[in-house]
Amino acid sequence: MTRQELDALTLDGRDPANLRGDPITGDRYTSRDFMQREWDQMWTRIWHVAGRTAELEDAGDYVVHDFMNESVFCVRQEDGSIKAFYNACGHRGQRLVWGSSYQDRFQCPYHGWIWGKDGVLASAQDPEDFPQGNPCGKLKLKELRCATWGGFVWYTMDNDAPELLDYLAPMPELYRNYPMDTAVRVFWMKIDLDTNWKFATDNFSESYHTRTAHPQVPPWIDQDVDTARHEMWAGGHGRTVQPMRPSLSDRLPDGADHPFDAILRQWDIDPAAYPDFETKAMQGWLDLKAAKKRLWRERGYVHYENMDDEEITDSPHTVIFPNVTISFLPDNLVFFRTEPHPEDPGKCTFDLWCMAFPVAGQTEVESVMAGPQPLREASFQRRDFDQGRGVPEIHGQIVYQDMLLAEGQQRGMHSRGYRDAYLSAQETRVRFFHEVLNDYLEGRR
Ligand code: FES
Ligand SMILES: [Fe+2]
Repeated sequence: MTRQELDALTLDGRDPANLRGDPITGDRYTSRDFMQREWDQMWTRIWHVAGRTAELEDAGDYVVHDFMNESVFCVRQEDGSIKAFYNACGHRGQRLVWGSSYQDRFQCPYHGWIWGKDGVLASAQDPEDFPQGNPCGKLKLKELRCATWGGFVWYTMDNDAPELLDYLAPMPELYRNYPMDTAVRVFWMKIDLDTNWKFATDNFSESYHTRTAHPQVPPWIDQDVDTARHEMWAGGHGRTVQPMRPSLSDRLPDGADHPFDAILRQWDIDPAAYPDFETKAMQGWLDLKAAKKRLWRERGYVHYENMDDEEITDSPHTVIFPNVTISFLPDNLVFFRTEPHPEDPGKCTFDLWCMAFPVAGQTEVESVMAGPQPLREASFQRRDFDQGRGVPEIHGQIVYQDMLLAEGQQRGMHSRGYRDAYLSAQETRVRFFHEVLNDYLEGRR
């Protein structure tokens, strides 16, 4: 796809003329009926992330993805491909696996049937006792479509869904310069939260809340409305691209330790050499691009090799419809995802995966959302948010601030006083998300 072709597909994510104006009512967050329609019309038709390809190195490695009351597992095959199966025994429905691991064959704990990695039944007790015929070699676990992009393993329950790369368009094109496949997941947590899953897509579709909710951000990512680029695409995806340089509107007091100074120094630029703050922010940002392009190879930043001028210093914060957000930074990916509770529309789980692009010689990386982390594949942690008490590791981090607000917003969704959102232009993508969701629910997709 050429740049022009891409531009022709890109909608202005700050222009409400691209919207119908569907109201964002409170019942969307609180009603069981609405939740059921989301399952029937949307969750069963989109592509889901089951895990990372790094979890499926060898044949027999598998990941389990529990989603509401459904469960799916994806298994690396002998030929290197990956197959996805519903996690229900073909005999009488027993769940076959409970957590990601490795198995050469899958033995059901109930009557002992053994399924191969390819989903075909390999053996059963008393195979000749079946009047309808010996099931071995004949019965197969119900398979789903499975594909990979960006080092993520995806599946869909819908045989008629578009191919993964078409579903994701134009993400594979936009992010082809990032070595997503080899990013190391250095922090991996799933958090139970008392809010509807949609808060996260709403929240990650706008940066209007940042100056209030995350005052620590503007000194290193420019949050000014006119310096960001807001984009969205017909599939429901969107992004905001922001320069990683200090905002000129939200200045730290003179003399305060400035995070941008540390970034400049890291690339041999003297922050004191600029005559004033504005010049440091604007010219320093250009000088940073030049320094990174000059020094990346000798510093071991091999992931800069294919990045363009924007990617090497900026932050495209990207929402993939309906529930995945990936924040792309020059040295990191942060993956956020919410998923609904099986029964309660007022609850969800929040996945936080911080991923780093390895740099030779670095043993510790900045994870962006969870502080410094050792450079190694992290182990999984499951937590209850418990008004923040359950996640001391991320206390005060950007994502923690969002979670606290999410629980408060969910309370407001129950109020008779709330009717619809009153959105700024820079929040256009919030309503766009709900309109694409409505398209699914009303059978227009
Ligand atoms: S339910 Fe799995 S062997 Fe019977
Ligand atoms: Fe936020």
